[in-house]
Order: sequence, then C-alpha cells, then structure tokens
Amino acid sequence: MEFTYAISRIMHEEHMAVLGLLEKIEQLLNSNLGAEPPDATIGDTRLLLGTMKAEINTEIKLHFAFEEEHLFPMFEEAGAGDMNNILINEHRVLMPLGLRLAELAGQAGSDGFTDDSWAEFKTSSGQFIDGLRSHVAKEEMGMVPLLDEVIDEDKDAELMNIYKFS
Ligand SMILES: [Fe+2]
Ligand SMILES: [Fe+2]
Repeated sequence: MEFTYAISRIMHEEHMAVLGLLEKIEQLLNSNLGAEPPDATIGDTRLLLGTMKAEINTEIKLHFAFEEEHLFPMFEEAGAGDMNNILINEHRVLMPLGLRLAELAGQAGSDGFTDDSWAEFKTSSGQFIDGLRSHVAKEEMGMVPLLDEVIDEDKDAELMNIYKFS
C-alpha cells in the first residue's frame, strides 16, 4: 500500500522491521525445539539476543509511546475510539511481555540460558510473536490507512518533527 505522508510511511516501515525481528526470533525457537537451550553467548544467537534487547527497549517502546501520545488522540477525535481501545489494550499486554523478554535476552547474552530461563524465553517469545503479529496486522489494516487519511501536510510535518526528537 502506498501512503501519502511521511509519518504514515515511517509507521509502516517500523511495522515491517518489527515483523523481520519476530521472524528471526521464531527461527531461533524453531532451530532449538529440543529441551536443550542454545548457546546464547556466541555467534548469531548472541547477536540476535542483543538486537532483540535493544529493539524492544528502544524502537518498540518509542513506537508504542508515539502512537499512544500523538496518534490515538487524533483517531479518538476522528471517531475511532473503539479501535484505539483495542490497540491500547494490546500495548498493555505486549509491552511488559517485551520488557521481560529483553531482560531475559540480555541475561542470556552475557551468562547463557539456564533450563528455566530458556523455558520462560520460549513461552514468552511465542506469546510475543503471536500477539505482536496480530497487533501489527490490525494497525496495517486500520490504523496506518486512517492516519494517512486524517492528516494533511502541516500535520505530517508537525508529527515528523515530534517523531524525530522523541
Ligand atoms: Fe501499536
Ligand atoms: Fe504500530
């Protein structure tokens, strides 16, 4: 889908980037289906866990906050309060789950997984992947097209300015 405004394109690109990250986490889970945890302190696994920790703690957190502070209030005014409520409730579930995963990923990257931390990582990652995929799908279908529809050039410039400095 083609979007007119820069901020809509950025939201869309961030959604695509997060889907890419989820795909990599899923690959890690799928290549370690046995009970044994992978060695998290070396190579690609360590790199992925580092990326995961950083992206959840910064990009994803900022993205959620930007939507809640600057986009949802606009949609509320446009009469899309029901959509906001669904999306906000999903943020409330996904963010704590993500922060816990970032913590587990960080610990594993430096000390390796224990059997318990790997078991928790697998379960929580599975929930995070499913939940965030469904969240992104809803936003791509409803929110981003609506954003592109309700703003104009001035509002786009204003939002881009806020986005750049957040
Ligand atoms: Fe969101
Ligand atoms: Fe989003």
